[in-house]
Amino acid sequence: MIAIVGGTGPEGSGLAIRWARAGESVIIGSRDAERARAAAAQIAEKAGALASVEGAGNVTAVKMCDVVVVTVPFAGQADLLKELKPSFRTGTVLIDATVPLATAVGGRPTRVLGVWQGSAAEQAQEVVGKNVAVAAAFHSLSSTVLAGEDDVDCDVIVCSDDDRARQVASELAAKIPGVRAIDGGKLENARIVEAMTALLITLNIRHKVHGAGWRVTGLGI
Ligand SMILES: NC(=O)c1ccc[n+]([C@@H]2O[C@H](COP(=O)([O-])OP(=O)(O)OC[C@H]3O[C@@H](n4cnc5c(N)ncnc54)[C@H](OP(=O)(O)O)[C@@H]3O)[C@@H](O)[C@H]2O)c1
Repeated sequence: MIAIVGGTGPEGSGLAIRWARAGESVIIGSRDAERARAAAAQIAEKAGALASVEGAGNVTAVKMCDVVVVTVPFAGQADLLKELKPSFRTGTVLIDATVPLATAVGGRPTRVLGVWQGSAAEQAQEVVGKNVAVAAAFHSLSSTVLAGEDDVDCDVIVCSDDDRARQVASELAAKIPGVRAIDGGKLENARIVEAMTALLITLNIRHKVHGAGWRVTGLGI
C-alpha cells in the first residue's frame, strides 16, 4: 500500500491514477482528510472499476503504509515532514518528488533554489532521520501526461543511498506504462535531477507543450 502525501495535487493524483491502474492500493494523503477522500473518489473513477484508492489525513496515511511518496511544494516539504516524522514506521521507504523551484520564494518556475542540504531529497532525509530510507524519483513525469491515457514516454532517474529504497522506487516507476527507471546513483545526485526539472519547465514553455521529459541512451538496458 502506497501513501501519497500531498496526493490531492496534480502530481500526486497523476501518479495515483497510474499506480491504481497497475493494481496498487493507494492512500491519498492531505492536510484535510475530507479533501483527501474527495480526491481519492475522483482518482478511483479515472483509474477504473478495480482501483483501490482511499483518502486520509497525511498522518493517518503515513501510519498505514511502508511506502510513502511526497508530492508537496518545496515551501511546505520540510515542515510537513517534521510533523509526520513520529508517524513513520521504522523501515519506511520515502520517495521524494519535490523540486525546489524558486516559486517557493516568489521567483520563476524555471529556476531552482539553493538548498542547504544540497537538494530537497537530502533535506527530506535529514528531517525524517535514519529510520526512514529516502529515494528521489519521479521529478521528470509531467502531471499533465500522467493524467492522460497514453503511455508515458519518459525515463525516471532514481537516486538513493539505500538499495531497498532505490529498488522500491524503481519498481513503482516501471509500473507506469512507458516509463523506464534509471539508477541515478547516490541521493546527492538528486540535486542534479531536481535542477534538470527546472530545465524541463523551460522546455515546456519554449516549445509550448506540457509533457517534455527525458530519455537516457547508451546504457545498454
Ligand atoms: N506538477 C508537476 O507536473 C510536477 C512534476 C514533477 C514534480 N513535481 C513536484 O511535485 C510536487 C507536487 O507538485 P504539484 O504540482 O502536485 O503541487 P501542488 O498542487 O502545489 O501541491 C500538491 C499538494 O500539496 C499540498 N500542499 C500544498 N501546500 C502545502 C504546504 N505548505 N504544506 C503541506 N502540504 C501542502 C496540497 O494538498 P492538501 O492541501 O490537500 O494538503 C496540494 O494539493 C512539487 O514539489 C513539484 O515540484 C510536480
